[in-house]
Amino acid sequence: MVVWSQEMLGKINQKMERVNDRNFGKIPYSAEDGKYNDLSGGSVDWWTNGFFAGSLWQLYQWNGNEAFKESAIAIEKKLDHALEDFVGLHHDVGFMWLHTAVADYRITGNEKSKKRGLHAASLLLARFNLNGRYLVAWNCEVPGWAIIDSMMNIPILYWASEQLGDPRYLQVAKAHADTLEKYLVRSDGSVGHIAEFDPQSGLFKKLVRGQGYSPESSWSRGQAWAIYGFALSYRYTKEQHYLDTAKKIANYFIGNVSQTEAVPLIDFRAPLGTTKIDTSAGACAACGFLEIAEHLSGMEARYYHKAAEKILRELADNYIDLDLEKDGMLQKSSHSYHQKAETEIHLVYGDYFFIEGILRLEDQALAIW
Ligand code: GLY
Repeated sequence: MVVWSQEMLGKINQKMERVNDRNFGKIPYSAEDGKYNDLSGGSVDWWTNGFFAGSLWQLYQWNGNEAFKESAIAIEKKLDHALEDFVGLHHDVGFMWLHTAVADYRITGNEKSKKRGLHAASLLLARFNLNGRYLVAWNCEVPGWAIIDSMMNIPILYWASEQLGDPRYLQVAKAHADTLEKYLVRSDGSVGHIAEFDPQSGLFKKLVRGQGYSPESSWSRGQAWAIYGFALSYRYTKEQHYLDTAKKIANYFIGNVSQTEAVPLIDFRAPLGTTKIDTSAGACAACGFLEIAEHLSGMEARYYHKAAEKILRELADNYIDLDLEKDGMLQKSSHSYHQKAETEIHLVYGDYFFIEGILRLEDQALAIW
């Protein structure tokens, strides 16, 4: 327990009570001028659509505020349209249903929620390319693309495997993690975003530019997805190389943010002076460091714990908006390097990882992944 994070948790809760009153059951992506937008309606298949519910479940399991639970359940029901629509769904089903239906099932035991989670996991399973041993990313008519973000989606496969007692889900999750570990993680601990394979033969072709500066650069949120994702693969499989990989990428990340007051640039390998910051990458990496620390002991565990606390403290002191009249907390998150209109804005997943990080510092977080 840390005094500042305990106080911060109280303030987060106070703010989220008001935010939830104003936005009950909405599906926000970002807040502009202190007001959430709402992606409800249509096929609701955008990858971030579970994060507001995830924040609400995290706070509900901590303090039992029924309004948080009811709002999260309303969002979960809205996401049924995405399952029914099917065509817009992608590898990000883990982000969407781990934070809604699976969280609901873990906390309340609701069987309908469990079915939603298993449905989403089965859709992800079906994306497996047998020859390339990877899960196909997105729906952009490139069936050879696999991306680092998906490391945060495969926990829904690990969960489904446990629920069904069926090793296929775990086998596919591990095969995919092994492929990304081989082709995207570099020897210096940096990570590429997109690996392209020949979808017929499964042979690796090249790295492709995604949300970072270039195919060879180092998009910071991609590094964060990798740190946390490999640490989670270790949690479920206990295969040592996943933890070693998570530590290697974490050490690279810690070295890079030591140059920028603990807050990551959007891309660590963009030309100097050309890139803004991405606080969401910092919050996500901090959660990953805390996951790593859970599997270590002594000085090594303290090293990653301190690194996480340093980032979260910097975000808390300089980037959190606690104004009760405004929606959105974590400021200056960035979608990608090249999409300039969406840099240094509020993004709903930044809030989620900040909340999870603070709860983790207090040993009070729901294991949502
Ligand atoms: N697709 C996940 C991200 O934008 O980070």
